Amino acid sequence: MVDLAIAEPVSTGPAHVAIIMDGNGRWAASRGLPRAAGHRAGVEAVRRTLEAAVKHGVSWLTLYAFSSENWRRPSDEIQALTGLLRRFVRSELSELGRNGVRLHVIGERNRFDADIQTALAEAEAATASNTKLNLVIALSYGARAEIVAAAQLAAKLAVAGKLDPDKLDEAYFANLLATAAMPDPDLILRTSGEQRLSNFLLWQSAYAEFVFTDVLWPDFGEAEFAQALAEFSRRERRFGARPS
Ligand code: FPP
Repeated sequence: MVDLAIAEPVSTGPAHVAIIMDGNGRWAASRGLPRAAGHRAGVEAVRRTLEAAVKHGVSWLTLYAFSSENWRRPSDEIQALTGLLRRFVRSELSELGRNGVRLHVIGERNRFDADIQTALAEAEAATASNTKLNLVIALSYGARAEIVAAAQLAAKLAVAGKLDPDKLDEAYFANLLATAAMPDPDLILRTSGEQRLSNFLLWQSAYAEFVFTDVLWPDFGEAEFAQALAEFSRRERRFGARPS
């Protein structure tokens, strides 16, 4: 169970950390275990990371739990992943909700089993007034599909006479994305030594700082989270402006 009561004073780090949790399979293979065991250990790392995010005063945490490309994995692995998700949403999230965590889901949730969709909607509704940590879980998420869906919506609004194409600016478009009303990530972290964005938050990451660690996701915890925040604090963010 996640113990958020250990939360300590808040620092001035990134408000929004987004994580590409990678390396579960390699973690399992290096131990001669099935990939599902790596994903199970990955859920433990999710718990540790939630605690660390609260402790370090991060107010938004986005986790890339399942990409739209992950449906191409063997069916037993998909079953293992959706089973873990089902358990996490049903049992952990009520506890998290009691501790001030608010759940948001982005991605094509309608591709999951109906009971998972229901559990997600219930958890989102039940935690809607929480403010300590916004947890965004990206499920069957792909950034290109998200951008195309927003473009489609804009086109439909224009055809219906509800949007003047000349008024379509960045702010308007951002509000058509799944992440409308969420701040852009300040820090994007990827584990396992890979240095790719893999179709994650392409629009939203325009000015994000990137931190890559060789640690495999199941080994990730508070120390690695703190290290990433320390690396972030050494970066000078200019958002395209000239250095002062
Ligand atoms: C990448 O490892 C990880 C995933 C595809 C899934 C991440 C899922 C979890 C941590 C568990 C479920 C999450 C929640 C929020 C309940 P990989 O399998 O691609 O590893 P590899 O690159 O070493 O093969």
